[in-house]
Amino acid sequence: MARDRTLAEQAFEQFPQAVVLVDRDTAVLWTNSAAERLTGWSRTDAAGRPAADILEVRTETGVNLCAPNGALRRALRVGASVNTHFAYLFRLRTSDDPVRIAYTVAPQRGKDKNVVGAMIVIHDVTPELETIEARDALMLAASHELKTPLTTLKGLSDLLLDFELSEPQRRELLLDLHGQADRMERLIEDILDVSRIDSGRVSVDLSRLDVAPVVQRVCEDVRPMLRDHSLRCRIPEDLPPIWGEARKLHQILVNLTTNAIKYSEPGTQVTLSARVEQGYVRFDVQDQGVGIRKQHMARLFEKFYRADDPAVRRAAGTGLGLYIVRNLVNMLGGHVSVRSRPGKGSVFTVTLPQAEVPQASPRLVAASR
Ligand SMILES: Nc1ncnc2c1ncn2[C@@H]1O[C@H](COP(=O)(O)OP(=O)(O)O)[C@@H](O)[C@H]1O
Ligand SMILES: [Mg+2]
Repeated sequence: MARDRTLAEQAFEQFPQAVVLVDRDTAVLWTNSAAERLTGWSRTDAAGRPAADILEVRTETGVNLCAPNGALRRALRVGASVNTHFAYLFRLRTSDDPVRIAYTVAPQRGKDKNVVGAMIVIHDVTPELETIEARDALMLAASHELKTPLTTLKGLSDLLLDFELSEPQRRELLLDLHGQADRMERLIEDILDVSRIDSGRVSVDLSRLDVAPVVQRVCEDVRPMLRDHSLRCRIPEDLPPIWGEARKLHQILVNLTTNAIKYSEPGTQVTLSARVEQGYVRFDVQDQGVGIRKQHMARLFEKFYRADDPAVRRAAGTGLGLYIVRNLVNMLGGHVSVRSRPGKGSVFTVTLPQAEVPQASPRLVAASR
């Protein structure tokens, strides 16, 4: 019995959501650690005080949970629980911003079935709301990005329908139209990838992976994009396997190599190389292109970010590639970075853990980065 009680107490104590127990007069009996963190009140300081002293929880209409006319007293009086999906918790002890929460007030009954108090459970909903807000923002940005090629498509089809055109003219418009449709397709694929990443629906299936065949396939796949560039793929014969996933590594390297080609002039060189480095395999994608100015560096890996450079904007793009790259690299336990000299070129570097190294040592390397 005593053991069960300790177990139950421990469970409440370690419960991830804030729990506040009050008596029938709303005086605080007990709070768990999560409640101490959320309210800023220690358990001993809070005990015996009116709940209103430690909790200011307001719904959007401004009604305070612990006020004389609030939900807490009502729940105690009527003996029915109250749920609210969205409210604000004001931090009385610190001047931090209010926290967005959901709460439940569950009346507790004694042996004679009379209400003796209530349990207030508070759930910080910030992470859930952030996910929803990110999804809304992606929707909005995606619709906006899709509008541009769609408008062009409509314009082109109008021209094709309304005018007597010579065969070469018609062909040119159709080619243009095809290009816009391609652009929309790429954009939609990228958006779907981002949405999968953001909602945590990308699974990672790590195994020992030989790098050379993946790199070779990347080089073959991007070759059609070359405009008089020379593409060099350099992998040492004895490159050890990594701990990774072929599809993700392929997507990472295709994205980086495509950028290298897109953002550099015909006639220049693009190099994709791999080598061993302290428990990692390091991939470098190097170009002699437009480069990246300092003010853009910090934001390159953000969703939809594209430098406002005319040399960049001339090439079609979604601004999602590097966001996807960074997330995939993280999933594989690696690291991505960039060095660049405007007007001279850029090097994007990805490091991924080598398969054979004992588990502890790649982590040590990662921590010291
Ligand atoms: N190799 C590169 N050289 C110069 N700028 C680059 C390079 N790779 C990426 N960038 C910059 O980073 C931005 C984001 O890249 P990315 O997410 O792949 O989007 P996109 O290529 O669709 O524009 C690009 O718009 C460009 O400004
Ligand atoms: Mg790109």
